[in-house]
Amino acid sequence: MRNLIIAIDGPAGAGKSTISRLISKKLGINYIDTGAMYRALTLKCISEGVDISQTDKVIELCKNVEIDFIDNSIYLDGENVDNKIRSSEINLNVSNVAKIKEVREMMVKKQREIGMRSDVILDGRDVGTHIFPNTKFKFFLNASPEERGRRRYEEIKDKEKNITLKEIISGIKRRDDIDSSREVSPLVKAGDAHEIDSTNMSIEEVVDYIVNEVKINSKIGD
Ligand code: DC
Repeated sequence: MRNLIIAIDGPAGAGKSTISRLISKKLGINYIDTGAMYRALTLKCISEGVDISQTDKVIELCKNVEIDFIDNSIYLDGENVDNKIRSSEINLNVSNVAKIKEVREMMVKKQREIGMRSDVILDGRDVGTHIFPNTKFKFFLNASPEERGRRRYEEIKDKEKNITLKEIISGIKRRDDIDSSREVSPLVKAGDAHEIDSTNMSIEEVVDYIVNEVKINSKIGD
């Protein structure tokens, strides 16, 4: 039997990773944060002093980098980088790494390999449209840019004291633009995805909604 694959897509700050992590615990399945892989490569570029506009160099780094998930944490060349990939420097640069066609091809290959290993929930921008288009379980999480900015601000404000909510909201809008207008697998809702607007929903409400949908339509929890 094929393994269970749950695809969670949507724009930056829609709550995808918090929600996916909770669902993975509830259902006892693995969690793959596909955005974390682009972030890890961005971190590698920055720490190696590679200018992200030099696409060839970024592609070369991508060929030689080791990115994997162990216990739902991300490892870059053997180091746990869960925290390092969440800085505003990475936020600022990651969309330009994620729009490189060759980088996406390598990442998608890896995401499919990891996704086939076990029951899994993946979040990102192209999980339901491109990585696993045949899965039955596709959700598109959305919220207003202001609400998404507010959530990101709450996440980051203690670490980065100088950042303002206004800057975060404009960064989110800028990233939405790059992610939705790029040529390769842009951020779009799959035609058969359930769209969830979480602007006025709690995390628990979204988690329960998705878990119920998955349980109703699969053998899980029988
Ligand atoms: O979800 P996130 O904010 O961690 O994503 C980081 C960046 O990577 C964002 O610019 C979108 C991009 N991304 C992507 O293009 N495809 C994915 N499957 C996941 C993320």
